Amino acid sequence: MADADGDGEFGVDRILADIHGLVAQNTGGEVADYIPELSKMDPTPFGIAVTTVGGAVHGIGDTQAPFTIQSTSKAFTYCMALEAIGRAKVLERVGVEPSGDPFNAIEFDPVTRRPYNPMVNAGAITVAGILRDVHGDAAFDEVLARLSAAAGRRLVLDEAVYRSEAATGHRNRAIGHLLVSVGALAEPMEPALDLYFRQCSISVTARDLATMAATIANMGDQPVTGREVFDIAAVRDTQAVMFTCGMYDYSGNWAYDVGVPAKSGVGGGIMGVVNRQLGIGTFSPRLDRKGNSVRGVESFRLLSAELGLHAFDLTNPGSAFVDSFFAGAGRS
Ligand code: DON
Repeated sequence: MADADGDGEFGVDRILADIHGLVAQNTGGEVADYIPELSKMDPTPFGIAVTTVGGAVHGIGDTQAPFTIQSTSKAFTYCMALEAIGRAKVLERVGVEPSGDPFNAIEFDPVTRRPYNPMVNAGAITVAGILRDVHGDAAFDEVLARLSAAAGRRLVLDEAVYRSEAATGHRNRAIGHLLVSVGALAEPMEPALDLYFRQCSISVTARDLATMAATIANMGDQPVTGREVFDIAAVRDTQAVMFTCGMYDYSGNWAYDVGVPAKSGVGGGIMGVVNRQLGIGTFSPRLDRKGNSVRGVESFRLLSAELGLHAFDLTNPGSAFVDSFFAGAGRS
């Protein structure tokens, strides 16, 4: 595919153009309609963007079209919570085990009574509660500022989506009450829920997602502005949870086929992190039954195969650092 039209051109722009052309033919899936405002989305835009840890940005198609970040925000708020209260305290409130169930499942780990992980709604609402505890009424401004720093531009709230979600989010409200009942959230829980609805309603583009993902890939430093946005230890833990839980009940298939830590959102975005190398952002609003963008999943599959991005591909050169410990040790 790298030279599908036989014109002798390779390079990332050619690869992106070929993948975009192929995947654009897929019109499968449906726009999310359980949030009334999302059902009004134009289903047709499709963009793929890539940002390297060196700060180079490449893209094809509708990379500047706005959409709401939705669940993709969960990766960043988890990172913020780890930084704010530390890994041990976060683990007391939210686990790191894949649930194998849909993102909005009403369930907790039967032994710990904690939400399974921070990528499903129950875990993300708990994480919002942690950020509320730490930042109080300033919590949303903190989240917006940090996501903006990762994107390298000032992001804004999509008020219409926020209002729509807050007015109709009864299932999330039910999860919030259950979180209070198991002791994961303090009363009143409405402020945590409101933060969750707001963080989901931040407007981004595929290009933003690629650059935000590249900030994670670059150990927390924004590759274009050079600003340190996230702590390196928090970034490591966040990638691990994205790898095992980021695509909900598709996470196992995703790890097997695509092999990069990722997070999707029902606004149609998917963000992928190729550690120390790249951030990838895709946008196409039609979703599959698991809530993942149909074209986004297909684009990632092709891009991963074409560029050898899978974590366990032979293209992964391993670590010279580890090699140095074994140098001269010989065989036992
Ligand atoms: O909780 C919700 O319903 C949404 N605001 C976010 C869900 C979401 O993006 C799930 N992703 N695939």
